[in-house]
Amino acid sequence: MRRKQSEYMHWAKTQSRARFNLATSGVGAFPLAELGPLPPLEINGDNSYGYAPLKRAIADHCGVDPDCVVTAPGTSGANYLAFATLLEAGDEVLIEHPAYGLLVDALESVGAVIQRFERTHDGGYALEPELVRRAITPKTQLIVVTNLHNPSSVLTPESVLREIGEIARSVGARVLVDEVYLDAVYENTPRSSFHLGAEFVVRLPLDAQAPAGARVVSVVRPPLRGRRMLVIEDDEDVASAMCVVLEMVGHAMNELRRYAA
Ligand SMILES: Cc1ncc(COP(=O)(O)O)c(C=O)c1O
Repeated sequence: MRRKQSEYMHWAKTQSRARFNLATSGVGAFPLAELGPLPPLEINGDNSYGYAPLKRAIADHCGVDPDCVVTAPGTSGANYLAFATLLEAGDEVLIEHPAYGLLVDALESVGAVIQRFERTHDGGYALEPELVRRAITPKTQLIVVTNLHNPSSVLTPESVLREIGEIARSVGARVLVDEVYLDAVYENTPRSSFHLGAEFVVRLPLDAQAPAGARVVSVVRPPLRGRRMLVIEDDEDVASAMCVVLEMVGHAMNELRRYAA
């Protein structure tokens, strides 16, 4: 049975009493009123496929085409979106171990077959291409890594990521790099792996100015294997109706989920 929620992450996000809770990348809430008088601030506009000025600003910041920018509710939402876009149930995915728990849970929820490769204690938790090469199979569709690595914070150099890209290319797979903490490299911040080749599908920047939850995912569009959609809607009746209508016009509705507020 597919896993539909992550008990551990729910606990870590809502019950942890740690002073610095790393289970969420969000910036703490802060009332605008406390910033003092502000210049006119417009945050509304055409939002059919994301707020265009925001997408443009992100694209400029990352040096990518605005069409490659998709905004998402949080990095985990972005990861889920990327997995749901790239994978079919039963697809094989290779993910580092140890890994951020929710990446594994999200992969399970889309029905991926999960294989692991080690980032070893003796190897200083470095990303070792040889271990990826040994673990990859002709069936691997996606390699998933974090940079900086969660939990060790180890930075993977561009040269190593390129090697991972070449390994992925050899079997026609892609590489998802969760870069939520990359901007925590404050000096000589490396550029996103988005620029390293067509295999690299995701850039997830930690944007200190963005409100909690407004993380960003950039996805190089994969060739379409039929339209699969995920409806996100608080009202269950509205969501069900949308699914029915979209199915009637020929789309495959992946799943319908509700999250407790
Ligand atoms: C690697 C990684 N990805 C995703 C997240 C979750 O980020 P968000 O709170 O934006 O969903 C975290 C948690 O901080 C993380 O460490």
